[in-house]
Amino acid sequence: MTTIVVNGVKREVQAPNDTPLLYVLRNDLELSGPQFGCGMAQCGACSVLLNGKEVRSCITTLGSVGGKEVTTLEGLPSRWAKQKGLSEAEAAHAIHPLQAAWIEEQTPLCGFCQNGMMIKATELLEHTASPTVAEIKEAFTTSGPSAHLCRCGSYTAIIQAVQRAGHAMAKGGQA
Ligand code: FES
Ligand code: FES
Repeated sequence: MTTIVVNGVKREVQAPNDTPLLYVLRNDLELSGPQFGCGMAQCGACSVLLNGKEVRSCITTLGSVGGKEVTTLEGLPSRWAKQKGLSEAEAAHAIHPLQAAWIEEQTPLCGFCQNGMMIKATELLEHTASPTVAEIKEAFTTSGPSAHLCRCGSYTAIIQAVQRAGHAMAKGGQA
């Protein structure tokens, strides 16, 4: 039995320590945000935050997570609510400004890559409030083990959504 903290909640997991975190999240904890794309850290579809840093959950073992906090796509609203100090009632209806921006920019096409795109964007915007286009491109291409891939070519919309979310976050979440 292993205990991990996912989206602010302690979860008990029966899987062996060498199980990929992605399998634990999807199969044991029924969190379907992270996607299985390549299984080799080459596409970014499986990304999650580990103590605020993007990792590829397909190559991250359960045993390596330890006491670190895992945040999945499903945890973005509560992450934002905690950062903003929202009340329980406010938090119940909160969505992360990134999610709002993604909706407003109609960013996804098939949607398969978008989990990783939003996780990477969260990491970026928590460190760089108003990134330039060059900084956004750098974050999505060379900052991780590989570039985040979108086979549908939604890259322009992603950049626009990241900038929209950055402006909203700088204003406390207002679009
Ligand atoms: S499934 Fe993990 S990087 Fe592609
Ligand atoms: S929206 Fe289809 S892979 Fe990116």
